[in-house]
Amino acid sequence: MSIHDELQDTITALVQKGKGILAADESSPTIAKRFQAIDVESTEENRRAYRSMILSTPGLGEYISGVILFEETLGQRSDDGIMLPELCAQQGIVPGIKVDKGKLALSGAPGDEITRGLDGLEQRLTGYKEQGARFAKWRNVYHITKTTPSQLAIEANAEVLASYAAICQAQGIVPIVEPEVLIDGDHSLQRCAEVSEAVFHEVFHALHRHHVVLEHILLKPNMMVPGKQHSQKSSAEEVAIQTVKVLRRTVPAAVPSINFLSGGLSPEEATENLNAMNQLSPQPWELTFSYGRALQEPALQAWRGDMGNAASTQSALFQRARFNGAARYGKYNPLMESESS
Ligand code: 13P
Repeated sequence: MSIHDELQDTITALVQKGKGILAADESSPTIAKRFQAIDVESTEENRRAYRSMILSTPGLGEYISGVILFEETLGQRSDDGIMLPELCAQQGIVPGIKVDKGKLALSGAPGDEITRGLDGLEQRLTGYKEQGARFAKWRNVYHITKTTPSQLAIEANAEVLASYAAICQAQGIVPIVEPEVLIDGDHSLQRCAEVSEAVFHEVFHALHRHHVVLEHILLKPNMMVPGKQHSQKSSAEEVAIQTVKVLRRTVPAAVPSINFLSGGLSPEEATENLNAMNQLSPQPWELTFSYGRALQEPALQAWRGDMGNAASTQSALFQRARFNGAARYGKYNPLMESESS
């Protein structure tokens, strides 16, 4: 199969009506933080057991088309001895892999960071592909303060993100391009929108320079929301209008799908915001989810490290996936939260 056909097949499998992506690619420090919140020790066995349990959720493939895994998970087996990427495939879910190596302070730009992980990426991708991964993810972060992100951070991060995307496509791996303008801070929704517009614009400029085929990427951006410490909350409708406005200004229609991150929004907020966007007039791209916390938080709370809670953990995850599936059509209603699953 040609690289073009391979990329297109993966896009077709990932971009489906009523479905989105589950981000289960927490790095070792991040999963330790999530486990600590429920008093579970982050051992390799606990991580395997938890991820095996959530990926085995009956019917998950009804609402989830792809799952992003962490490197360790690619090599782990389910309780029944099935390799976890194979378990995903059996559920009709495409396995993907987080490939960036986290972030570092960006020299010359106080307060800004840059994502690393380009060294040896081609070789790593060959191995991940052999283990079943068909798509990849790379996340950049941008901090909003009075002085950040600097133009240097915006340009330097766009450059590495586009290099990563080009390397992935050359290997037949679909890249998820994730520029995350963080929710931390007391900035307004307007400031989030201004920064995000500059960031997304620069990302697409760099993708063009690197000859990345836009039809074969997924964009994973933040929504336009006020900072967590801002005095005013915004309604889902305001978030939806501002988010779509910024995306229409910056994201070419060739991009098949925009899969939002949840970035610290509550599960209900993330679903409501997505729903409100899908209630606006039709857009050139699909608008869907690639949530980590907003899908897994209720599941982690149900589990609390006790495998006796497997059924309720799986049903908590399934329920959030179903609600977000409804939000894909603009058909979610918060009243659904109080109905039994
Ligand atoms: P959140 O939805 O928890 O922000 O995670 C998505 C993700 O993959 C961040 O890289």
